Amino acid sequence: MIETAAIIKRTADHIAQLLSGEHTGHDWWHVYRVWQNALHIGKQEHVDMFVVELAALLHDVADWKFHGGDETAGSRSAREWLMSQSVGGGVVDHVCQIIDDLSFKGAGVRTSMKTREGMVVQDADRLDALGAIGIARAFAYGGHKAQEIYNPEISPTLHRSFEEYKKSSGTTINHFHEKLLLLKDLMNTKTGRAMAEERHNYLVNFLERFHLEWEGKA
Ligand code: ADP
Ligand code: NI
Repeated sequence: MIETAAIIKRTADHIAQLLSGEHTGHDWWHVYRVWQNALHIGKQEHVDMFVVELAALLHDVADWKFHGGDETAGSRSAREWLMSQSVGGGVVDHVCQIIDDLSFKGAGVRTSMKTREGMVVQDADRLDALGAIGIARAFAYGGHKAQEIYNPEISPTLHRSFEEYKKSSGTTINHFHEKLLLLKDLMNTKTGRAMAEERHNYLVNFLERFHLEWEGKA
């Protein structure tokens, strides 16, 4: 028990250090929030919290967007870290499986989690793309990519494949329609879904207000 707490603490410190200076929405504070969401959701579900916490902490250790499209870089470096901490093989495999399955791959591409622990972490990660935080992250990412905030002449596209999603270069408001507004229906757990619904409604209100202001009507 004490040993697992120490491993969690060392993992959090390791990730905080590794992701410091990352300013595109995948910084340590994103991981911190996903970890907190996962703790909150996980406590209502019957899951192995050690796996949940480790997977939440390590889930973005090498996101594909920033590693030349290598989708397995994340789980490889997570595996290395966990082995260095003498974590048991079963837990390592489980955590790495979750990391591999986690990334959103476009509107038409369903990624399914194989275990309850994975479902909790996926919900926790999705929640951070919703609500007030989700809005802040979307515009931070859009700025990083030099995207327009909105352009009424460019309509949203629902990407049918991961390839299409990776190549997309729309506006940040379109991202709400291409990804963020779809997330609430993809939630796995009851607790996650309830949180997502509240955050989703916040986005809907934001968009309504955004378009009113765009036309000088508010
Ligand atoms: P996650 O860490 O939840 O897996 P992603 O890696 O897909 O999320 O993206 C990181 C953050 O950047 C999320 O908040 C997401 O909504 C946002 N984001 C991703 N792609 C875009 C985009 N094309 N325009 C605006 N925001 C984006
Ligand atoms: Ni994430």
